[in-house]
Amino acid sequence: MIFIDACFRKKTPYTPVWFMRQAGRYLKEYKEVRAKAGDFLSLCKNPKLASEVTLQPIDILGVDAAILFSDILVVPMEMGMKLDFLVGEGPKFAKPIENEQDLIALSEDSHLQLNYVYDTISLTRESLAEDKALIGFCGAPWTLATYMIEGESSKTYHKSKKILYTNPYFLHQLLKKITHNLQNYLEMQIQAGVNAVMVFDSWAGALEAEAYLEFGFAYCKEIASFIKKKYPHIPVILFPKGICGALEQIDGDFDVFGVDWNTPIKRAKDILGEKYVLQGNLEPCRIYNKDSMLKGAKEILDTMENKGHIFNLGHGVLPDLPKENIQELVKFIHNYKG
Ligand code: CP3
Repeated sequence: MIFIDACFRKKTPYTPVWFMRQAGRYLKEYKEVRAKAGDFLSLCKNPKLASEVTLQPIDILGVDAAILFSDILVVPMEMGMKLDFLVGEGPKFAKPIENEQDLIALSEDSHLQLNYVYDTISLTRESLAEDKALIGFCGAPWTLATYMIEGESSKTYHKSKKILYTNPYFLHQLLKKITHNLQNYLEMQIQAGVNAVMVFDSWAGALEAEAYLEFGFAYCKEIASFIKKKYPHIPVILFPKGICGALEQIDGDFDVFGVDWNTPIKRAKDILGEKYVLQGNLEPCRIYNKDSMLKGAKEILDTMENKGHIFNLGHGVLPDLPKENIQELVKFIHNYKG
């Protein structure tokens, strides 16, 4: 698999490419399957339909890897927090985490409730071409904690940060409990057949660098080393979004570092390129305009020279990006000769 080879810095005939949020509303095929399922969470819980949308970007875009179709929030949901996705509003937890009792009530064993995810993985692996990788994933402890404490998406994260600065012990206890659940969850995903795992720390950039290293990245590293010790052949990708200012302090036992679009790829290469394969980092909105898209892609490819690089966006595909441009982008990357 060219994607897995690139994760381990082996020589590849071209730079492999896939996109965060490559399955989603910009595809009419996705919207059709979602309508069949009824709503987003029912789609996540239906292995046959979830597997179908996992495979769509392979056929439609020709990318080198599929990412499991699910959501990072199924873990807190199966830890016992009632979750709804309200149309047009995003995720909402009925009762956010506020106190010690809420923390104690959270399950240690959510991985035993997530069989629909493992079934999606095995069904998908059965139909996926042998040379295409299947990526499993989870949300990072800090990012999940923000949803669990705020109860929904936030612009300020002030409830989570208030706890961080007034009761850091409590936040660490919560992060530890989430980490434990995620280690088991990723292990079960590997046993079900994923070829790589990725940890999404989407709201890393909400914290000061020092605070992120203590309350965020430390837990990502714990998850990574747990997996690497047991499954050295499975690449681990960490994606802490928004931490350009902390790149010098990144270390740990993982294989691939996801670079967000705020970070110049040259800067990431100079600081981390020897230690980690880099994944990224085209600004997703460049895809609205073909010229900006190809110019941005060329700059990234010229900087990385198909050495220790996996092409991706610097964050997820947006629902209104033109599919035709994304298809052209994949062809451009696969044919690029430098
Ligand atoms: O990347 C993929 O194609 C795989 C599937 C995937 C989804 N969510 C599907 C999804 C993955 C890897 C995620 C991760 C995820 N979920 C993250 C981390 C990555 C990131 O984007 O930063 C986060 C923060 C979430 C939480 C989440 N899920 C939010 C805030 C929302 C609502 C916002 C929105 O775009 O509507 C979701 C819903 C969601 N997850 C959708 C999809 C395709 C849209 C649901 C729909 O069909 O209406």
